[in-house]
Amino acid sequence: MESTSAIEQALEVAVASCDTLGCPPRLAAAIRYAVFPGGARIRPRLCLAIAAGCGEPHSPLAEATAASIELLHCASLVHDDLPCFDNAALRRNRPSVHRAFDERIALLVGDALIVLAFQNVARAFAGAAPRLPGIVLALGRAAGAPGGIVAGQAWECETATPLEEYRRLKTGALFVAATVGGALSAGADPAPWLVLGERLGEAYQIADDIRDALGTDDELGKPAGRDADLGRPTAVGELGVAGAVKHFERLIAEANASIPPCPGAEFLRELVDLEAQRLLPASLLQRAA
Ligand code: IPE
Ligand code: IPE
Ligand code: MG
Ligand code: MG
Repeated sequence: MESTSAIEQALEVAVASCDTLGCPPRLAAAIRYAVFPGGARIRPRLCLAIAAGCGEPHSPLAEATAASIELLHCASLVHDDLPCFDNAALRRNRPSVHRAFDERIALLVGDALIVLAFQNVARAFAGAAPRLPGIVLALGRAAGAPGGIVAGQAWECETATPLEEYRRLKTGALFVAATVGGALSAGADPAPWLVLGERLGEAYQIADDIRDALGTDDELGKPAGRDADLGRPTAVGELGVAGAVKHFERLIAEANASIPPCPGAEFLRELVDLEAQRLLPASLLQRAA
């Protein structure tokens, strides 16, 4: 199956398992709203590309892992938009979950999606049990503390924020889960894929900071200028736009250089380059100049 439809299908299977008789209807509707329609689905696409590079294309195990990573990502967005974090009214070009439903539901949707991510891989790996502990640990590391999204978001609640660590945890960790999870789901050694996840994840957050500074609500599908409004520490604040763009380009080059020789290496390099262009198109960068 083509990767986009495989990802949507795997997400549908996971979400449908919540969406059954007995689930409070507003919760069920809000879970679906948080997952569909998606954004770029970059983390699951990366996960599938790496599983293919490790010799397992079209693998239901990789598809379930990819879907669980996207569920964790969607949960992080729902919680991130809440009034107690970024208080963002818009996500993926429509009202954020707490605006479309309410705050209590949004809190519960994030919780439910995190739990669902783990249930989803547990179900999918029933016939490949030896691979499951590695996957569960990789997802848990990326989602929680001290090495994942929970810890990353908590750095915003401290008086001083170490910027690289903040980016590594709040965004990089899930990209690492995507690369490492792709390899683990294929029964391969995850070590050669670690650097790709780390560099791409950091580059992604730096691009998000630049886009927040230069883009419009319409272009981003979420409120622009939020980092400055909230006084968030960002790559743009630290390095200026030009410095942040240079750092982004360096990280993308390092991500590409880290890809080990494998059947899908060329496809992976193309994926990285296309993402880099999508995130920081020339039209956006001209605005900075
Ligand atoms: C937004 O992630 C949050 C960051 C980590 C920068 P994405 O830009 O991947 O969001 P979607 O899933 O495409 O909407
Ligand atoms: C990105 O946070 C990481 C998480 C959502 C955990 P941001 O607050 O920078 O992301 P956007 O810009 O709202 O998507
Ligand atoms: Mg935030
Ligand atoms: Mg935000």
